[in-house]
Amino acid sequence: MDYLSKIDLTKTPKHVAIIMDGNGRWAQKQGHLRLYGHNFGVESIRETLKAAKELKIQYLTLYAFSTENWNRPKEEVAGLMDLLVKSLANEIKELSDTGVRLLTIGDIEGLPQECQDELQESIELTKNNTEINLVLALNYSARWEIIDAVKKIATNVKSNDLSIDKISTELFDSYLSTKDIPDPELLIRTSGEHRISNFLLWQIAYTEFHFTEVLWPDFKRDDLYKAVLDFQSRERRFGMVSEQLTK
Ligand code: IPE
Ligand code: IPE
Ligand code: MG
Repeated sequence: MDYLSKIDLTKTPKHVAIIMDGNGRWAQKQGHLRLYGHNFGVESIRETLKAAKELKIQYLTLYAFSTENWNRPKEEVAGLMDLLVKSLANEIKELSDTGVRLLTIGDIEGLPQECQDELQESIELTKNNTEINLVLALNYSARWEIIDAVKKIATNVKSNDLSIDKISTELFDSYLSTKDIPDPELLIRTSGEHRISNFLLWQIAYTEFHFTEVLWPDFKRDDLYKAVLDFQSRERRFGMVSEQLTK
């Protein structure tokens, strides 16, 4: 089916976030080690990014490593960090040439130095690009992010740089690692799991969710189109009633 032709390109979400899940199961189903699945997941990222650009999506946020993922077997964690460094080194020139601006959210200082260096270089190289923002969530968890914001706000209140009555939704936004990034309109999770796993808890207050059984290494352009079509079939009421919405 030609899903792309059914999409209203004037009403695609500005920001799509994805919980890329199912790499391990994908590999194990074929008798391989989990890392084999992570490697193939990189190809899905390439495809999804291309499709997102076609759809004029401005921000694509990918949950690549959660703070809880440190609890995985040592070899898997090391393999994931290595994959991050190698993939960035391999892809960054093409990403940069095709207008991708790389951003990160999460506790980047908690990553191995080699990852931090590669990320910093890639962010610097792509900083003036405007085609699409690729936001990698690395060593990220929403509870970490919220606590981090609360600590910074408390510090500023204590030093009299901020008065309590200035604390608002907008101010809180500006203390998060997603500051300057609009909230996602659409959140996709692959692999049939129906949970958030500590991702963007603050930012998804009014986000539409799309769950698919597809495992991340099998996720391709059509799967993004299907998710966007699903999004376009929703009525987003933001607490109002249907009749109040201007169509
Ligand atoms: C998602 O795939 C990638 C990361 C969390 C880094 P998983 O590795 O969680 O794969 P499953 O869920 O075990 O199949
Ligand atoms: C969520 O997937 C984190 C990433 C995709 C990076 P997990 O596989 O870690 O989530 P749980 O453990 O199934 O909730
Ligand atoms: Mg998983």
